[in-house]
Amino acid sequence: MRRSILRAVGGYLPDRIVTNDDLARTLDTSDDWIQERTGIRRRHIAAPDELTSDLAVAAARRALARADLGPDRVDLIIVATSTPDHTFPATATAVQRKLGCGPGIAFDLQAVCAGFAYALATADNFIKAGQASTALVIGAETFSRLLDWTDRGTAVLFGDGAGAVVLTALEQPGTALDQGILATMLAADGRHYAHLQVDGGPSSTGTVGHLRMNGREVFRHAVGELTGAARAVLDAAGLAIDDVDWLVPHQANKRIIDAVGKKLGIAEAKVVVTVAEHANTSAASIPLALDRLYTSGRLDRGDLLLCNAMGGGFAWGAALIRW
Ligand code: UT7
Repeated sequence: MRRSILRAVGGYLPDRIVTNDDLARTLDTSDDWIQERTGIRRRHIAAPDELTSDLAVAAARRALARADLGPDRVDLIIVATSTPDHTFPATATAVQRKLGCGPGIAFDLQAVCAGFAYALATADNFIKAGQASTALVIGAETFSRLLDWTDRGTAVLFGDGAGAVVLTALEQPGTALDQGILATMLAADGRHYAHLQVDGGPSSTGTVGHLRMNGREVFRHAVGELTGAARAVLDAAGLAIDDVDWLVPHQANKRIIDAVGKKLGIAEAKVVVTVAEHANTSAASIPLALDRLYTSGRLDRGDLLLCNAMGGGFAWGAALIRW
């Protein structure tokens, strides 16, 4: 069967680093509180003239270079983002232009923190259907532009960044030992729309708005949905948690990641945790964590990766991938 192979990954974090202590100078918060409740130590913030598409392009260039592929080969670009450069056109078309890609399919996908899982599953379906053969799947965010910097409940949690993967099509035997994306799962439940949202938009207020969150409600649902999504893709592929080499979860809160790892029964050493260094980068967090795993030299061809994510909507999903 035709599978989508993860040929390469790339990540990009803006230069400017803001520590917890930096935030504590203007907010009623502390490094201790932030680290204890979230595991976050610092976040990267985009320069004023740095757009989501710039972050996306930097990550995509690294991924394409590692895949040894030129931009002319890309026939599908999906940018998962909730912080597009403009309301329209799609940030994916800005990426297409800046990378120097020829005409192809390019669009944005908005599933907030589950955006990368949604984009990966969508690209996988395009490839399996034969409608694309080389895809760039990018998660890129400038959440710093959506934050209310006077709200300690949200300002400390998020950061900017981008991660990208290059997918190519490859014929495989069609077993659980295949290379590439073995299973994906997506879900959303709009009854929870108000728990994590931005209080503005082109159709409601005509403004960009600020991020608002009922953190406790998100936390309460996150552990269950993330665990369920992980189990669903393992079941779909006929594999078990012991087969997984790396859990690469959405990086929102170390406590959520630990709780999910514990519920799934996976060894802590197999869980990739990068939230300390870049906070919650929404759709960028899984490919950034994957990039960190790759650059650490610990990822081997044939390793089984389990990715899961959950966020606003609520929307959630998972993917099981053999590297
Ligand atoms: O990708 C999905 C996006 N979001 C998430 O995954 C977030 C999910 N939720 C969380 O991670 C956690 O709920 C938070 C980290 C947001 C909050 O942690 P918590 O343990 O649920 O704390 P809490 O909301 O119950 O607040 C405890 C106390 C409150 O004070 P009172 O009411 O007990 O007096 C807050 O006002 O901590 C206070 N607080 C803070 N204190 C210092 C809230 N934010 C801060 C802060 N610094 N930054």
